[in-house]
Amino acid sequence: MIQELKELAQRAETELQGAHTEEALNVLRTKYLGRKGLLTQMLRQLGSVSTTERPLFGRLSNEIKEKISASLDAALERIKDSRRNELLCREAIDITLPGRAVRIGHRHPVTQVMEEICGIFSRLGFTVEEGPEIETDYYNFEALNIPKDHPARDMQDTFYVEDNIVLRTHTSPVQIRTMEKMQPPVRILSPGKVYRPDSDVSHTPMFHQIEGLLVDRGITFGDLKGTLTFFLQEVFGADILLRFRPSFFPFTEPSAEVDIRCVMCGGEGCRVCGQSGWLEILGSGMVDPAVFANVGYDPEGYSGFAFGLGVERIAMLKYGISDIRLFFDNDVRFLEQF
Ligand code: DAH
Repeated sequence: MIQELKELAQRAETELQGAHTEEALNVLRTKYLGRKGLLTQMLRQLGSVSTTERPLFGRLSNEIKEKISASLDAALERIKDSRRNELLCREAIDITLPGRAVRIGHRHPVTQVMEEICGIFSRLGFTVEEGPEIETDYYNFEALNIPKDHPARDMQDTFYVEDNIVLRTHTSPVQIRTMEKMQPPVRILSPGKVYRPDSDVSHTPMFHQIEGLLVDRGITFGDLKGTLTFFLQEVFGADILLRFRPSFFPFTEPSAEVDIRCVMCGGEGCRVCGQSGWLEILGSGMVDPAVFANVGYDPEGYSGFAFGLGVERIAMLKYGISDIRLFFDNDVRFLEQF
């Protein structure tokens, strides 16, 4: 019996050497030390061992049990250790590697010019109001004194969404929306996208406008001239030459278009200014009393001026860009110059 016990211990030791996984060790633990394990079974035979050998058998089997158990624990620990080490090596971070540079973009030139313009007017006390790009016929035309079938509708080709729903052709409807919800004094600026079915070097179907509106008691054409002169000198420099040219818009009376001396040729005449020496830069005028009537303002008590300008056009003249479509091609080589 003693001999058998020793051989069992020997076998267990050998098998343990060959076990390299947690699972294999568990199998061995059950095989030798489990409730039906080999060593356990042998201990059950204690009764059949001769009385002289019994104490030795008991002591030896306890020693062997402890030894196997300790070896199993040690082997398990080794396996866990090596797995941990392997993981640490694999996940090691090389802190000497240079970091990845964060590439910072910048604002689109159209956005930059829009922000510059809004900045100038905010210093004059104007605040920004926005309106929907999908607009009703009423706000886009009717309320601005452009009735259906009026020839003035031809000034603005229109994308129709439905019968009486359009993509706004200008930012002027925001004038109406603002006056409907606000009593004078009103001093607002409305930047945003507008849409017209047009496409060539100076037109895109979507472009940006900024609308301005000031209403108060006693506002005159002199206020309009002074404000727009200040504005254009801020954008194009104090030396810029301006002219206010009589024009027509259904929502203003009188109306004026403002031209600046051609920034390309200085007035000599070139392709950009069509040999005239002047560049048309914005539309403006004194708010028509019919518009005031539409929003319930008293035309006797209040007067005001309004203006509208194309942001891309100003950006093109400011930076000498000859094709408006460059703004919307998203070519980084173009955009990164601003
Ligand atoms: N809405 C006009 C357009 O898109 C621009 C304009 C002209 C706006 C005169 C105004 C204005 O407020 O007074 O062509």
